[in-house]
Amino acid sequence: MLLAPSKKALVPFVSVANMMRLVHHVGVEIFLKELTDAIEADFARWPEFDKTPRLGSHSHDGVIELMPTSDGQIYSFKYVNGHPKNMAQGLQTVTAFGLLADVATGYPVLQTEMTVLTALRTAATSAMAARHLAPKSSRTMAIIGNGAQCEFQALAMRAVLGIESVRLFDIDPKATEKALRNLAGSGLETVACTSAQAAIEGADIITTCTADKAFATILTDNMVGSGVHINAIGGDCPGKTELHPDILKRADTFVEYPPQTWIEGEIQQMPKDYPITELWRVVTGETEGRRDPRQITLFDSVGFAIEDFSALRYVREKIRDTQFFEELDMIADPDDPRDLFGMLSRAAG
Ligand SMILES: NC(=O)c1ccc[n+]([C@@H]2O[C@H](COP(=O)([O-])OP(=O)(O)OC[C@H]3O[C@@H](n4cnc5c(N)ncnc54)[C@H](O)[C@@H]3O)[C@@H](O)[C@H]2O)c1
Repeated sequence: MLLAPSKKALVPFVSVANMMRLVHHVGVEIFLKELTDAIEADFARWPEFDKTPRLGSHSHDGVIELMPTSDGQIYSFKYVNGHPKNMAQGLQTVTAFGLLADVATGYPVLQTEMTVLTALRTAATSAMAARHLAPKSSRTMAIIGNGAQCEFQALAMRAVLGIESVRLFDIDPKATEKALRNLAGSGLETVACTSAQAAIEGADIITTCTADKAFATILTDNMVGSGVHINAIGGDCPGKTELHPDILKRADTFVEYPPQTWIEGEIQQMPKDYPITELWRVVTGETEGRRDPRQITLFDSVGFAIEDFSALRYVREKIRDTQFFEELDMIADPDDPRDLFGMLSRAAG
């Protein structure tokens, strides 16, 4: 006879439908702003976290990754994939789900979808980095690659930095049309461009978020003028980059967790003595971010576990006392902890 699960068996679960309800309940731009602050707060206490490069299982067309971290109280992990060819089959390039657990007992305390949440946290991380690195007067951004991440990146830069105009380019005009449609009414001026070169004209911030499992060259050195901030998010896997290495020679490059970025980021193309700065040191004020109006700053984003930790703890706080989750019967809870088999036996028939 199957018994109803006990309270200890139940773990709050945020489905895709509930995540979307939560985001609309909070408001997309407020969500992005608050998430940016949550990520920044965790970057400011970076040394407290247990850190490791994510564990990837690579195949010909993609990668599946596990991203764990802990601040000593709460543990988190995210499952995420990256399959650029998925889109042609009507599937997402990136899908994800994640979990928070109590370090003291190891018991999960939250499970959520993270496909939508990853797009939000990646955009919030970009905005957090740009807050420290982009020119203070930034009003125009370019986005090259107008897929799933694109609108999130634009809205986070608007919410956090006050960006007013977005110049869009994608090799597939249908992607740009989709972004124009989705951003209509957002308050952002949107301009469709016919090349990457045209898109970056007059942009203070250049975001590259293309997907191709290759050493791609989305930007070459001659395209990039002085004083811009580049936010490169699509180079996030061994053998998958977006920038010509000559750009990196002129730029000051900021990274999340160096042992992971050396494997996955734009800097995988550079010699090991190439200078990089950890972004968390800029957040704490230990190191300068932008120091010169002519400087090219580059955030070589690959996506690090602490950003997912921040997103998960933010969602956990936000769903408290709401209807935006359900309870999953996830943890076996026998009356006598040693009598797991007895619990199974009693469930027969
Ligand atoms: N750094 C991070 O934290 C992070 C997080 C999420 C996703 N990503 C990466 O960001 C990238 C974008 O993700 P997505 O979910 O938007 O992918 P997507 O497949 O939905 O969109 C990618 C877009 O790039 C376009 N594109 C490909 N090559 C191009 C080129 N040479 N010039 C212009 N456009 C080009 C495609 O037509 C497509 O519209 C992926 O590489 C993904 O792995 C990084």
